[in-house]
Amino acid sequence: MPPRNPADPITRRLNAINEWVYNGKRAGRYLFHILIEDQTQGGWVVVQGRRMLMMATYSYLGLIGHPRLRKAACEAAERYGTGGHGSRTLSGTLPVHLELEEAIAEFKGTEAAIAFPTGYVTNVSTIAALVGRGDYIISDKYNHASLIDGALMSGAKLLRYRHNDMDMLERRLQAVPPEAGKLIVADAVFSMDGDILDLPTVVALARKYDAWLMVDEAHSVGVLGQTGRGIEEHFNMPGVIDLKMGTLSKAIPSMGGYIAAADWIVHAIRHAARGYIFTAAMSPVVAAVALEGLRLLQEETWRVEKLQANTRRFLQGLRERGFDILQSETPVVPVMARGEDLALQLTRAVMKRDVFILPVLAPAVPQGQERLRATVTAAHDFADVDYAIEALTEAAREVGLPLKA
Ligand SMILES: Cc1ncc(COP(=O)(O)O)c(C=O)c1O
Repeated sequence: MPPRNPADPITRRLNAINEWVYNGKRAGRYLFHILIEDQTQGGWVVVQGRRMLMMATYSYLGLIGHPRLRKAACEAAERYGTGGHGSRTLSGTLPVHLELEEAIAEFKGTEAAIAFPTGYVTNVSTIAALVGRGDYIISDKYNHASLIDGALMSGAKLLRYRHNDMDMLERRLQAVPPEAGKLIVADAVFSMDGDILDLPTVVALARKYDAWLMVDEAHSVGVLGQTGRGIEEHFNMPGVIDLKMGTLSKAIPSMGGYIAAADWIVHAIRHAARGYIFTAAMSPVVAAVALEGLRLLQEETWRVEKLQANTRRFLQGLRERGFDILQSETPVVPVMARGEDLALQLTRAVMKRDVFILPVLAPAVPQGQERLRATVTAAHDFADVDYAIEALTEAAREVGLPLKA
């Protein structure tokens, strides 16, 4: 390729991004893309030959490396091969895709479900299929990027409300013309703060203003509710959400996303969502692992109980030590540093104590809200949880993070 003119706008943009990353690396601020050599040892990983307690994972139930999942992957590869012939719409759906969708629908208590290759694509293409120009999306300010990207792609008007502020949500709904299409979208468990959507109020408002409700359960499936079925089980409000979105890449450690909903809704999405129609079928290996993961979630219910017990211990331990962890009630725990330098120093100090934990910096969170995002899982035991609390406390003292008395 011939050299590019440095004044060309695309070249300038790419160079600016690279410069930002190189500067971060030179200043020791780049703590991303860390190479993990072994992730199959329960709650611990091996990083550069060092065994570290894994506190930066989405695998809430500790299922990564489960022998039944490895076996499901091998058997699916034997039976189907590894890929597909193309899009499921044009080149064929496999039995394992249908089995997975049936299992998801049963698990989520809906008539039907549709699986997509990733959770990100699920959100973007479902929202773009549901709404368009002239419609309105009313979205929590802390919603995941994929929900925002879907809103932007749809052409609908995006109205945002302050995080979990139900009065503001109502004001937004009042401002929408009554005849317009209205879709409320929100995370069930907010992925950076670990707090839970006020589902009862959101449902009441959706009904009052005749709005549709789509909830992203990426961090609530396997986590919330006595049997890990998610936010409706947590609030004991079965069947109140119009579209339950979830991922197959977190508590269930495969890849993919889904929408669980009434049959006629799923049918329409299957014939309109561009991220389903214009993309290759989910690999049968991935689908088989997701299916087996869903079975394990329902059979090994002790994992959900253990996750919830570990979560309570971790939250209580950190609060007793004076950490600011916002309103987290879940395994997603923001350890607030409220400054980039402090967040980076704290990360390094905790890592030094063999705890794998990562910072979340602006622009992923608003400036001044920098934190470490810690997660507990069912693969940890109480000794691991206590070790993490101790390591965080020592690290906080070392770097001068203020702790409440
Ligand atoms: C709330 C939320 N929704 C959607 C996604 C996207 O899911 P996936 O990683 O399966 O593409 C994520 C991923 O981090 C998420 O946290």
